[in-house]
Amino acid sequence: MKKVLIAPSILSADFSNLDRDIAMIEQAGADWLHIDVMDGHFVPNITIGPLVVKSIRKCSKLFFDVHLMITNPEKYWKNFHSAGADAIVFHEEAVTDKIKLVNEIKNSGLKAGVSIKPKTPVSSIEKMLPLLDIVLVMTVEPGFGGQSFMEDMLPKISQLRKIIDENKYNCLIEVDGGINIDTAKQCFSAGADVLVSGNSIFAAKDPQQSLKDLKSVRV
Ligand code: DX5
Ligand code: ZN
Repeated sequence: MKKVLIAPSILSADFSNLDRDIAMIEQAGADWLHIDVMDGHFVPNITIGPLVVKSIRKCSKLFFDVHLMITNPEKYWKNFHSAGADAIVFHEEAVTDKIKLVNEIKNSGLKAGVSIKPKTPVSSIEKMLPLLDIVLVMTVEPGFGGQSFMEDMLPKISQLRKIIDENKYNCLIEVDGGINIDTAKQCFSAGADVLVSGNSIFAAKDPQQSLKDLKSVRV
């Protein structure tokens, strides 16, 4: 049976204890580490940059899934590559020549992904799907952790699942925003491969158990 991958988002971790929090989720079976990069321009919040990624690279072997919520990712993605990213996911809405950027990222040896905000349709990235390693569907408006899941994004996940399966594309569907045990089930049923979760893991009484519960999601 297909398994879902869980990518805890460190946006909701304790930034004064990042190494401890990362070790905790790694031990509990996290599959990827989701790193939310925000620039105060593409989204109304500022979070972390390459220096932090470089520091946490020293304390974790997890797959670093770097979600760039920034303007001009063409200019900055290499800094995250040098810092230790394994995947670079940029926003469809932030880039004009998306195919060029995807090819550059892939040629550097990293996995490449494109993310779509809630108002951006699947059609805007459909032609790129054969090239992509990851398509990230935002199920909240990007910018902050702890928001409520937008159920009306579920059809986008099913639509992507259908296109990817019918054409046998090698692209994972990642879903980000408002994931908890209930919405995780909905996303998994709709065809998601990777689920990002911040608040429902790090703000839980028992973060390790909450991560294990998410990992065991089945339809
Ligand atoms: C939101 C970020 C998400 C966020 C998810 O802009 O891209 O990755 O950290 O956090 P939760 O799971 O709390 O919605
Ligand atoms: Zn994210």
